[in-house]
Amino acid sequence: MSDNKQDIQAFWGALYDSLYAGSEDITRDQLLEGLDALEDMFRLRRHLAVVEMPLESLKGKRVLEIGPGAGGHSALFARHGAIVTAVDISQVRADATARKFKILGADDSKAMQGDAEDLPFDDDAFDIVYSNGVLHHTTSTETAMGEVFRVLKPGGRAVILLYCKSSWHFWINMWLCIGLLKGKAFGDRNWLGRATEWGGKDAQTVENPITRCYTGAGIKRLFARFENLRLRKGEFYFYLIPKLGRLYRRWQIKRYGTHPGGYLVYGEPWPIQSPLEHWLGGIIGFAWFIAATKPEKDAQ
Ligand SMILES: C[S@@+](CC[C@H](N)C(=O)[O-])C[C@H]1O[C@@H](n2cnc3c(N)ncnc32)[C@H](O)[C@@H]1O
Repeated sequence: MSDNKQDIQAFWGALYDSLYAGSEDITRDQLLEGLDALEDMFRLRRHLAVVEMPLESLKGKRVLEIGPGAGGHSALFARHGAIVTAVDISQVRADATARKFKILGADDSKAMQGDAEDLPFDDDAFDIVYSNGVLHHTTSTETAMGEVFRVLKPGGRAVILLYCKSSWHFWINMWLCIGLLKGKAFGDRNWLGRATEWGGKDAQTVENPITRCYTGAGIKRLFARFENLRLRKGEFYFYLIPKLGRLYRRWQIKRYGTHPGGYLVYGEPWPIQSPLEHWLGGIIGFAWFIAATKPEKDAQ
């Protein structure tokens, strides 16, 4: 494995410990309750996992999740009857996902350590490939998208979240506040990686090696071999504005409360968005919610 891949693995492993350590021992009832809450939270946010992902018709479908993290999304799909395969570059994250399948009794689902850029599966193996906030952290998103295309069955669906460059978060929170005013963008090709992702209870000791953001045109290029490309934006939060955002977050939690759906995926409850933020998400949000299909006959 290259140094770069080892750094990627080390970062996501350390972040897992910071976010989730100590929360692994859950009972089946707690997991089921957590999954109900997760689905409810996703519906409130109109998240990819419930809008682009056809939850109601997952029964018997072969779903690959790339980068399942702590396994909340994969467990949700398995609970809806999908036969899930989950691949994460970080062994602890693959193990956390496997534990959730075991607790659910989803014996035909499995999780393993592996790399998005070199998937250990045959061509045309899956009905759906799902990946939420992962492929912009790989050394080559193009290579990873090539793998998504390869392992999908003809007519199969890719359901992918990638970061959006044409967003408030990229231009104001990151580029203006961190890149320009704090001077982080100068002389550091990975300033964006360093500016994103850490959380949880521990101080950051390892840096995120890669983060990329895409314009709509960039997404179209990445999905050039697919058809029926559907793109929409989402996810805007005032609390992400450096410094001022912390004050806003306290007010927001008092005003709108928190949602327990966050526990399984973020290790803590999710601060509920204001209606204004939800609306702004559709215009200047930081996430591209993407769905596209692999043509029945590949042109190449
Ligand atoms: C931001 S987290 C998202 C986790 C999960 N999808 C979620 O939404 O909660 C990124 C995940 O991608 C995984 N990852 C990063 N690079 C990867 C790669 N090349 N192959 C597979 N997984 C990767 C990380 O280990 C981590 O679990």
